[in-house]
Amino acid sequence: MKGVAVVDHPLVQHKLTLMRRKDTSIKSFRQLLKEIGGLLCYEVTRDLPLETVEIETPMQPMSAPQLAGKKLVFAPVLRSGMGMLDGMLELAPAARVAHIGLYREPATLEVVEYYFRSPLDLEDRPVIVIDPMLATGNTAIAAVDRLKEAGARDIRMACLLAAPEGISKFQGHHPGVRIWTAAVDQRLDDHGYILPGLGDAGDRMYGTR
Ligand code: URA
Repeated sequence: MKGVAVVDHPLVQHKLTLMRRKDTSIKSFRQLLKEIGGLLCYEVTRDLPLETVEIETPMQPMSAPQLAGKKLVFAPVLRSGMGMLDGMLELAPAARVAHIGLYREPATLEVVEYYFRSPLDLEDRPVIVIDPMLATGNTAIAAVDRLKEAGARDIRMACLLAAPEGISKFQGHHPGVRIWTAAVDQRLDDHGYILPGLGDAGDRMYGTR
């Protein structure tokens, strides 16, 4: 699928299967989501540009690579995006964070924004949107719309699970934004949930309903 990278690393796939099981505890679900967040971050950041700097080791001077340009921005979509954030911050601890508060109206599945706070200079930074469930695509589309409006240009989408319907709608709106996901599932149900999926990610993280 063009523009979609399925992260098929065995550790990611194993952890995802544990998360899907309905009897997995809230504590384990949260821990696994954080761990997969870190593993996905490794893939999403694989092509970040490097520059060469001159350093001195205890033995001798050398030319060595370091990340070029301004720090990354992670943009978790509240609430469930927060579950992958800490795992990502463990790999990129100096990253900035843009919080995006969006919810789906249950009746219409339309997206409503209730919070947005981001660094000011988004145009100079790679921005990784974090939304574990790319279901209808509406939330991810709204998040990327908002980030573009705030100036972001290099935007990448990290999710845990994606539905084919969500991917095609998202790519229709934002063809230049690549997607990383641990799996592409079968389809959506009538309520916009992913099948076979793992249920409501936010509820499973926080023990709500
Ligand atoms: N959001 C979720 O948490 N789960 C789904 O299956 C779809 C959207």
